[in-house]
Amino acid sequence: MRSTNLPNDAESIITSGVTRPRLTFLGVGPLGGTYAACYAELGYEVLGYDIDEGRISKFNDGQLPFYERGLDELLTKNLANGRLRFTTDIDEVAEFGDVHFLCVGTPSRPDSNSADLSYLESCVTSLAPRLSRQCIIVGKSTVPVGTSSWVQQLIDQHTSDGVDVEVAWSPEFLQESNAVQDVMRPNRVVLAAQSEWAQQLLQAAHKGVFELAAQEDRDVPLVVTDFATAELVKVASNAFLSTKISYINAMADLCEVAGGDVTALARAMGHDERIGQKFLRAGIGFGGGCLPKDLRALASRAQELGVGESLRFLAEIDEVNTRRRTRAVTIAAELCGRDVGPAGARMEGLHVTVLGATFKPDTDDIRDSPALDIARRLRNAGATVTVYDPKGIDNARTAQPELNYAKPLSEAVEGADLVCVLTPWEEFRHLDPAALGDIVSHRRILDGMNALDPQLWRNAGWEYRGMGRS
Ligand code: UGA
Repeated sequence: MRSTNLPNDAESIITSGVTRPRLTFLGVGPLGGTYAACYAELGYEVLGYDIDEGRISKFNDGQLPFYERGLDELLTKNLANGRLRFTTDIDEVAEFGDVHFLCVGTPSRPDSNSADLSYLESCVTSLAPRLSRQCIIVGKSTVPVGTSSWVQQLIDQHTSDGVDVEVAWSPEFLQESNAVQDVMRPNRVVLAAQSEWAQQLLQAAHKGVFELAAQEDRDVPLVVTDFATAELVKVASNAFLSTKISYINAMADLCEVAGGDVTALARAMGHDERIGQKFLRAGIGFGGGCLPKDLRALASRAQELGVGESLRFLAEIDEVNTRRRTRAVTIAAELCGRDVGPAGARMEGLHVTVLGATFKPDTDDIRDSPALDIARRLRNAGATVTVYDPKGIDNARTAQPELNYAKPLSEAVEGADLVCVLTPWEEFRHLDPAALGDIVSHRRILDGMNALDPQLWRNAGWEYRGMGRS
């Protein structure tokens, strides 16, 4: 597979005059589902595909199977104008598309940290034999470096003779809860293709993004690169973000023993533009379906490629992150006056309310959620735990049925010996400490993501502990 030398010129995409190709998105989870609706909004004819019939019929009925801010309007609008459809029929996908985007999940394998590419494989091997005209298959899923040449091999093995199908790559950088903006107004577009015609088609598939930027007088940086780089950008970025978070969390430990305040430290550090304010929030650590998994998959791939040494620090980043959860339980026990022995904290007889179950605010996603894991650990330590979350209760209950769930918030905190704010939802930031103080049994609060004003809570008679704030 050769790397392309085409110019890095977004302007040439807008002026190229190519017609809009028809797009398919294979796998309509939070990634493919968002892309499908947004690209229809950008003017493309789009077909979304999934093997999950329930998910597809929900989409076709105008209902989102997951929560993503602003996406429901785009779904409704573009189903109505006919530019967007969803199907479970792979023949229809092959017939419809000029550009097929692979958006299926690449979770960790059950037996190791490396990425499980079986969904990707079954997508390609079921699509390829059905293709009957020139088209490209574009990887968007997060994969180990080297995957694109394997995908091209699969395509070559399964496509009929004389049908020209090439793999191309364009990683995605969606942040859940901001995913619509990230698709419509990305902070960069990265493209890799093999031949001139594939490059033209790939650019045409992204033309709408650049046209919108031009209308709004914005720039979208375009990086046209080789396949290995395009595959690496995503995991390298996620591992960097994880490193930044674990770095400030390690500083939080230092602040606690030295008598500092990590929130002020992060603010002061972030004023240096080379460091920046973002992703320096100390607390209970990172979770979700991406950062932890990608960190481990990158370390594992580096090991396979013989450069494990160079990325060995990633294992420590992961450990710093996991220790945040233990630390939160320790602080919870300390707040309640319980000793923390070598075997950990014991919290029998205590009623703890955990506010937040999702891995971050504005989502219903509870995958690898630090908040939910801490709730589970508190229960394992003997506490009776009740969880409240604005959007995540249903998913949390399915994943952790042994915890108690309650809503509204006032019911969840009634009689609590300790309240732990573990996901910084806006609703929790604006809680009234005086009013809440009347409902609980003891005014004790653990602020797991340092989202509250300590003075406000202390003034209302609460015993307040943050993470890394002495
Ligand atoms: C992350 C990346 O930010 C996206 O760029 C990437 O495209 C995406 O993964 C992906 O791989 O698809 P996401 O998982 O939606 O996006 O969530 P983030 O906003 O990155 O937050 C991840 C975790 O880090 C959360 O648990 C959050 O609470 C935590 N975090 C974030 C901190 O602990 N401190 C911070 O300063 C920032």
